[in-house]
Amino acid sequence: MVLKANPRSRRKQPASRVLVLHGPNLNLVGTREPGIYGRQTLADIERRLHELASELGVALETFQSNSEGKLVDRIQAARESADAIVINAGAYTHTSVAIRDALLAAELPVVEVHLSNTYKREAFRHHSLIADIAVGQIVGFGVHSYLLGLRAAALVARRK
Ligand code: DQA
Repeated sequence: MVLKANPRSRRKQPASRVLVLHGPNLNLVGTREPGIYGRQTLADIERRLHELASELGVALETFQSNSEGKLVDRIQAARESADAIVINAGAYTHTSVAIRDALLAAELPVVEVHLSNTYKREAFRHHSLIADIAVGQIVGFGVHSYLLGLRAAALVARRK
C-alpha cells in the first residue's frame, strides 16, 4: 500500500504559547536556602527553559514578581496571549485565593511546579490552592520541575 502524504499535515502548526510564572522570592534562588532550592539561579533556570522551548517548538514567555497583584495582572493578560501556564507561585501557592481565581478566569491549562518537594516540608506547605485546578503538579526535582512542567504544558496547551 502506498501512503500519500496528507497535504494538511505539511502545513506548519503555529507554536504553542506557554507562560511560565515565578512568584515571590524566586528571584533569589541560587542564594536563598540553597540546601532546599539548589544553587541554580533564576537566570540559569530561564536559560534552560528557553533551550527546551526551542527544542519543543514552543513560544515561551516568563515573568517573575514578588507582588500578588502583578501576578494576577499577568495571568489575566495570558487569557489572550498564552495557550498554557506553568506556575511556581512560591508562598502564594498556600495562601492566594486571588491567584487561584485569576487562573480559573484565564481558562487555560495550568501546570503547577515547585523546586522543592513541598509535601516533605512544613505542614502549611502541604496545601496548595492551585493543585485542584491544575492539570497536574510536579514537585521536588529542582530545575527539572520546571523543565518537566514545560514539557507537560506543551502537551496540554490549547491553541486558540
Ligand atoms: C516553592 C515552595 C513554597 O512553599 C515556597 O514558599 C517557595 C518555593 C518551591 O519552589 O519549592 O517560595 O514554591
